[in-house]
Amino acid sequence: MTQASAEEIERLAEEAEAAIAGATSLSELDGLRVAYRGRKGKLTAALKGIGELPLEERRAVGRAGNEATQRLLSALDRRGQELEAEAAAGRAAADQIDVTLPGRGVEVGHRHPLMTTLERVLEIFVGMGYSVVQGPEVEWYALNWTALNYPPDHPAMDEQDSFYVTDEVMLRTHTSPVQVRAMRAMHDGSCPVRRLDWRCPPQEALASCRCTPPPTRVVVPGRTYRRESVTLTHHDIFYQVECLLVDEGITFADLKGVLAAFLRAYLGPTTRVRFRPDFFPFTEPSADFSVNCEFCDARGCRFCKESGWVEIGGSGLVHPNVLIAGGYDPDRVSGFAFGFGVERLAQRRYRIPHIRTLYENDMRFLRQF
Ligand code: DAH
Repeated sequence: MTQASAEEIERLAEEAEAAIAGATSLSELDGLRVAYRGRKGKLTAALKGIGELPLEERRAVGRAGNEATQRLLSALDRRGQELEAEAAAGRAAADQIDVTLPGRGVEVGHRHPLMTTLERVLEIFVGMGYSVVQGPEVEWYALNWTALNYPPDHPAMDEQDSFYVTDEVMLRTHTSPVQVRAMRAMHDGSCPVRRLDWRCPPQEALASCRCTPPPTRVVVPGRTYRRESVTLTHHDIFYQVECLLVDEGITFADLKGVLAAFLRAYLGPTTRVRFRPDFFPFTEPSADFSVNCEFCDARGCRFCKESGWVEIGGSGLVHPNVLIAGGYDPDRVSGFAFGFGVERLAQRRYRIPHIRTLYENDMRFLRQF
């Protein structure tokens, strides 16, 4: 290879300066430094044979080489500073807070529509003088059925319809067993009824009573379980509210009055309530109760099964055998009871057509309430 001339070296310097000026990043700049000044760089190569040149030429080429090196270094330096400054400005801009942007906001949780329904329901009953009591979700067979006057062969007791833990213990299918628990709790601390085994035959409760229990006036919220397939209006886990009033001289008129007052307080004063004869082992007489369908305005739709009415729950006058199981004398007192599903009420109040959405925890659904 012949030694490069002073002119060639100058051209190299110009080329390098142009490339450096066009570099857009510090790493690209470093690449150019290596490409010209590195061990195998273009300028390094161009100056390699300088020692072999005759003195005159060596001076000229040497000067050109020094100049080129100086231009290269200062171009690298200049562009490096520019790129540093640009990067710093970019970082500063990124760090800057735009105070005109809307705030990010912290998401605040709120209660589930089922729970707000339940709270409102209880509030109305508390306003009417009822006490809120609860019972266990895992219940004695004897309280879920026997104490409530179910005959031993009643179809609801079938394993197909209920979840059993053992022969004696099950997931309660309704909140009604708490009627008996609540009545027994009204007895004096010294009355044997308070210490009776829950599984004792109902008659034993009354027989062992040594006190005159005061009126029972309770409302019982709670979760209940049934082996059901999930439909528009049914679910295998659901909430019920049970209401029980036991006192002297209670009649069906008291039941109708309290129930209608509650439904109108909850669903609105124009709510229409319908009672129809029904049968429950633990009430006599019994009636189911419905309200006018909110979805179709009583014209008939899928939600009300084309009837214009939505059944809310069951009710009746407490059967004498149930009073006996609670340690009350049916010759002295009478009572009414009713029970209903909370989901149905929430659906009707919030116009939720499908019960399943209440249990899916889909935020897009829950945010609406
Ligand atoms: N326990 C009944 C059920 O789950 C509902 C019910 C009916 C409750 C009549 C009552 C009543 O208190 O009197 O279907």
